[in-house]
Amino acid sequence: MNQREASWSPHSWHDHPIVQQPDYSDKQRLQKTLSELQKLPPLVGPDEVEHLKAHFAKAARGEAFILQGGDCGERFADCTREMIASKLRILKQMAIILCNRSHMPVVKVGRIAGQYAKPRSSPYEIIGGQSFAVYRGDFVNQEDADHDKRRADPERLKLGYFHAATTLNYMRWLAHCEPNSLQDHDRMLADDPSSPLAEIAAELSQSDEYERPSGAEPDFFTSHEGLLLPYEATQTRYVAGRNAWYNLGAHMLWIGDRTRDQGGAHIEYFRGIANPVGIKVGPGADPRDICLIMQRLNPDNVPGKTALITRYGSRQVQSQLSALLEAVQSARLQTVWLCDPMHGNTIKTSTGLKTRIFDDIVNEIHETIQVHRAAGSRMAGLHLELSGEKVTECVGGFTRLSAEQLATNYKTCCDPRLNSDQGLELALRVGQMLQPASMQLH
Ligand code: PEP
Ligand code: CO
Repeated sequence: MNQREASWSPHSWHDHPIVQQPDYSDKQRLQKTLSELQKLPPLVGPDEVEHLKAHFAKAARGEAFILQGGDCGERFADCTREMIASKLRILKQMAIILCNRSHMPVVKVGRIAGQYAKPRSSPYEIIGGQSFAVYRGDFVNQEDADHDKRRADPERLKLGYFHAATTLNYMRWLAHCEPNSLQDHDRMLADDPSSPLAEIAAELSQSDEYERPSGAEPDFFTSHEGLLLPYEATQTRYVAGRNAWYNLGAHMLWIGDRTRDQGGAHIEYFRGIANPVGIKVGPGADPRDICLIMQRLNPDNVPGKTALITRYGSRQVQSQLSALLEAVQSARLQTVWLCDPMHGNTIKTSTGLKTRIFDDIVNEIHETIQVHRAAGSRMAGLHLELSGEKVTECVGGFTRLSAEQLATNYKTCCDPRLNSDQGLELALRVGQMLQPASMQLH
């Protein structure tokens, strides 16, 4: 028996310091809710999780591209037929555009069916001169500026599980029984023939991606940040046939930039599960720490097991990513490299709205691709915050969305997302960057 089997359990993280957790006043109710959650059936299957791990390994070898995206924070109120379909629609369209240009299969992973908890920079916030407990996502409390609604309520963990189950059920039905219902391109594409999106209308309508899939593999995988460990522990099940523990609440989970402390509870929890695990890496992370984390999460150096999701911001990629690449390569650690061009590029407008500039996002991706190429590595995918709707949260793109227009349809409960036009334009731009011939032009 190795050391991991001897000392890890779905609850061993309790012995480690933990951050970013809500403070539940009624501990007994929390315990009761957790034991109910523990008895509910798993949301995904271990075979599906293994399929995704195999895709990650392929992506690391340069044989596939990973497109991970969705809301910053999902809301229970958005668990509707239309909102779920629009998230799948934009992911599917972007995947087709990327696949046609990169000549690689694109694996779609939603930030969906469980992305209900958010890490926050402060436990309190001031609204209208009053201090309130911060909103931590629908899994924990409610957005309204009301002291009662801001209280952490254990019942919401159960609501989260059921909303995830409902979302996933509809996703599976859409993908396997009604894939052509995702082909509603007219709703998405701008009427303007001079728009860069005009060129993709025919491409999308001719794609055979909208035929019913024949295999048993999911067309869309699910993922969320594994933040609330009491909940994640209830979704962690031993699979005897594989002699391994899996988190069966999602296919893939990631560890946020604020919760990946080496000795902390999150790393302890994640080292015991067989799912692919993402590690967010922001500016200032010490490459040696990241290597130690990777060794703890993946002691056998299994390809496809970890994804490093770098999110440095367009101005810092060059120096920070080169240093991390050097450390990971010299330690010979297996990983798939994803780029999150969103979280390092967040700014605030003069009216206090959080936004991101489309060109900063494109630039971070471009720089990331270049730095990888120079080091003999490759950016194997993207991690995006995006909406399938025409929201107005990020500035720029071909519609030249301005800072003044942001308030017209600003809907996010947390960070600003690309809208459907910006998502498609980004797919076109990145698709071009991934074409070997055009790479020479940059
Ligand atoms: C997120 O992905 O929404 C997030 C909070 O990211 P990070 O941990 O990279 O800040
Ligand atoms: Co976010």
